[in-house]
Amino acid sequence: MSPTPEVAQFHVINGIGILSLDSPPVNALSAAVRTGLLGGMQQAAADEAVRAVVLICRGRTFIAGADITEFGGKPKGPGLGEVQDAIENLDKPVVAAIHGTALGGGLEVALCCHYRVALESARCGLPEVNLGLLPGAGGTQRLPRLVGVERALEMMTSGRHVPAPECLELGLVDALAPEGELESGAIAFAERVVAEGRPLRKVREIDGKLEAARGRPEIFEEFRASIARRTRGFLAPEYNVRCIEAAVEQDFAGGMAVEQRLFRELLTGPQSLAQRHVFFAEREIWKIPDVPRDTPKIDIQKVGIIGAGTMGGGIAMNFANIGIPVSLVETSREALDRGLAVIRANYERTASRGRLSAEDVETRTGLISGSLAMEDLAEADLVIEAVFESMPLKKEIFARLDAIAKPGAILASNTSALDVNEIAAATARPESVIGLHFFSPANVMKLVEVVRGDATSDAVIATSMAVSKRIGKNAALVGVCPGFVGNRILSARQIQANRLILEGAMPWDVDRVLFDFGLPMGPFAMSDLAGLDIGWNKKTSKGETVRDVLCEMDRRGQKTGAGFYDYDERRNATPSPIVEKIIQDFATRDGRKTRNFSDDEILARCVYPMINEGVKILAEGKAIRASDIDVIWISGYGWPVYRGGPMFYAEQVGLGSVLSRLQDLAKEYGDAFAPAPLLEEMVAEGQSFRDRGF
Ligand code: 3HC
Ligand code: NAI
Repeated sequence: MSPTPEVAQFHVINGIGILSLDSPPVNALSAAVRTGLLGGMQQAAADEAVRAVVLICRGRTFIAGADITEFGGKPKGPGLGEVQDAIENLDKPVVAAIHGTALGGGLEVALCCHYRVALESARCGLPEVNLGLLPGAGGTQRLPRLVGVERALEMMTSGRHVPAPECLELGLVDALAPEGELESGAIAFAERVVAEGRPLRKVREIDGKLEAARGRPEIFEEFRASIARRTRGFLAPEYNVRCIEAAVEQDFAGGMAVEQRLFRELLTGPQSLAQRHVFFAEREIWKIPDVPRDTPKIDIQKVGIIGAGTMGGGIAMNFANIGIPVSLVETSREALDRGLAVIRANYERTASRGRLSAEDVETRTGLISGSLAMEDLAEADLVIEAVFESMPLKKEIFARLDAIAKPGAILASNTSALDVNEIAAATARPESVIGLHFFSPANVMKLVEVVRGDATSDAVIATSMAVSKRIGKNAALVGVCPGFVGNRILSARQIQANRLILEGAMPWDVDRVLFDFGLPMGPFAMSDLAGLDIGWNKKTSKGETVRDVLCEMDRRGQKTGAGFYDYDERRNATPSPIVEKIIQDFATRDGRKTRNFSDDEILARCVYPMINEGVKILAEGKAIRASDIDVIWISGYGWPVYRGGPMFYAEQVGLGSVLSRLQDLAKEYGDAFAPAPLLEEMVAEGQSFRDRGF
């Protein structure tokens, strides 16, 4: 078999066979690439002039893994195992030449080569865990043989892309090549291997580092305990650990059998399906049907931020982190100093954990300058307003900004609920106005809702998306509506959570069910964390809701040591008998009959209205795709990745089942559960979100 000419080329230079792959965008191991690899190895084997082989890739990266789009389909072409055997068993040395990223199946191919040379800028990793998988082409058995059990555990359960210099230290690569010299460096390396008569180094036969871990099962137990919190609910991390255990306890063939069995189980299970959906969803969000990819973007070199409070400070850090200077404007010296001090303290905390150097702290804080004059924003290419949530105030600020900002600058608001069109109308340039809704803490949370107004220009939308990507966020383009997408769905859930506690469920019951479902916390724990008094007014409060009563009692959440829960000095929560009594009094006062709720009922009451709201949002065109809503809820609210987001979850449950459950709930509890007409239509026509163009 000869390599498929388009994706694989084999030629010989001075006795070194160069097998180069070229399959954009990321040289994933599609059937064509596997065929090309196998053909190349066969040519190398058959050609007596070939003394060694260099495997190299064209384009932006070495092989980035198996072709994820092939998962779940019928197998085509040679299997990856067959290709790897051909490489490992070739009777001439094979050197992998790595640039970009050698990931997953890509690294597993490189691990079957006898040596690895990498560009200094390259990275290697086994990120399968992030797709709900484990490395299924021998990676679980070969990696610990090269880097040792502890490092393999860390790499495989985090999926981290390890920089080449660290790979060299670990023994994962054998040599580094300077930028621009990968091919020549790998050829020279291969020639040395031949000249020195070095053995064909098969990773499968190396045993020293595994030997060091034999008879020490505590390594695994301690490691499991260390990742338990971070990996709660996920199957894949534990399965990865089991494979490394098998590598220690069994011979290579035994370990491979365990790997194959567990890989199949994950591949065909619901979690990996969900996680693969999220992988593609996170790449889809950048695609905006009516804003072409090549829309000219505004060059963002300087950023201005108005308001140095909770959000403004965090937003500023995002830009300083990538080297963009920020001007932070406040009303008083005191507020400004406080804001700048919080920023510094945040950076110093990161540095104290070893995740930032002292020098970086100075560079980044040095990029953020404070000012009390909005006129100082005249040079900014992007201004983000993050003052109090008040329409009159925001309008006043945008009117002033209109007079100050340079032509073409983007004027953004971080409002979490106000009408961006109304804010835009306070300026004479509504095409430059957009919402950039960050989530708190803004320097940590990965989501930005980019809120397009009626007049927002394509360039402003495209630039806002691009700049959000540059600062490492997932940005989803949404339309103007109360709460936009994320908070609008949150509010549908909150309404039901509040009702449930008046009908007999306790806040800790509701929280437990949602926590067990995989969310980081339930609605009441979340309220306690955020502060029950957000939006509450002492003067007008009349004890009409449980929240009012709690605030009036100064139970305002974690910050006051009590809210829906009681808190000890380490902020551990316990259910509060006082709150239980308040809730019961409300029910008695309203003459309500209370009853017990099963976990399933609680879940349905909370989650089905979220799905229904999501469908309404799609019908109104406020989100582009169902998968965008999934990304919003995963990145902004911690919806469990292994359940793929609320809309993906709905399809897994079955849209028909969701509809009939909503209909039942509507009979019992009224219109709040009335199914979205779009959902009814989709079910009647047997359509998925994708079929429907969402
Ligand atoms: N299979 C199929 N398509 C892939 C792919 C893969 N493994 N990796 C990336 N792509 C596609 C993306 O969907 C995207 O397509 P689009 O342009 O149509 O949206 C395109 O390649 C470019 O990807 P990115 O936008 O992510 O490009 P970046 O340059 O930002 O990142 C990357 C490149 C670091 C390689 C990143 O794409 C990535 O992390 N890819 C996945 C790597 C991975 O998980 N590999 C393991 C796969 S599972 C496996 O190997 C199983 C094995 O053990 C048997
Ligand atoms: P905050 O109260 O912590 O900070 C607001 C800051 O704006 C204060 O420091 C205040 O001094 C300053 N300010 C007020 N008027 C000003 C003016 N004319 N010029 C300059 N500075 C001025 O408020 P927070 O929480 O940061 O919220 C800001 C905005 O972000 C609001 O619109 C809010 O709805 C939104 N938001 C808040 C989130 C949160 O979780 N706190 C999440 C997402 C959005």
